[in-house]
Amino acid sequence: MSELVRFGVSIEAELLKQFDREIEKKGYTNRSEAIRDLIRDQIVTQEWASDQETVGTITIVYDHHTRDLSANLTHLQHSFSGDIKSVLHIHLDHTNCLEVLVVQGKGKLLQEFADQLVSVRGVKHGKLTMTTTGDAIPTKGGHHAHGQKHEHTHK
Ligand code: NI
Repeated sequence: MSELVRFGVSIEAELLKQFDREIEKKGYTNRSEAIRDLIRDQIVTQEWASDQETVGTITIVYDHHTRDLSANLTHLQHSFSGDIKSVLHIHLDHTNCLEVLVVQGKGKLLQEFADQLVSVRGVKHGKLTMTTTGDAIPTKGGHHAHGQKHEHTHK
């Protein structure tokens, strides 16, 4: 961890009051940590926008009874030129599956991949969470994790 520095900020009293109310609701005990988190969040957004190597998770919920859906999702995952680190699959109930994919690659590639998965017919909801370590993530030449099952059975 690098050295901590202090700096002064000029801000309208009313804006600061609003900020304090918001961060209290979120459970922050001090402004410094809240401001650090805001800055880090901004850095994540910048990293993704600048198309650097990065990491994220894609969460999708789908009805596995939908015709061709499993084949379509599997096909997309095999065609993906980034890196799928891990896939978590949960049979939520009789019809619905929840899948979380941990992905690594260039920001735009990951966004494109998430859009493709979410737009498959039968996928009810999906979301890409962009994150970062804050340091440059080393590129892992496009190999493909094969931990995921291609077929699964449902009760
Ligand atoms: Ni399932």
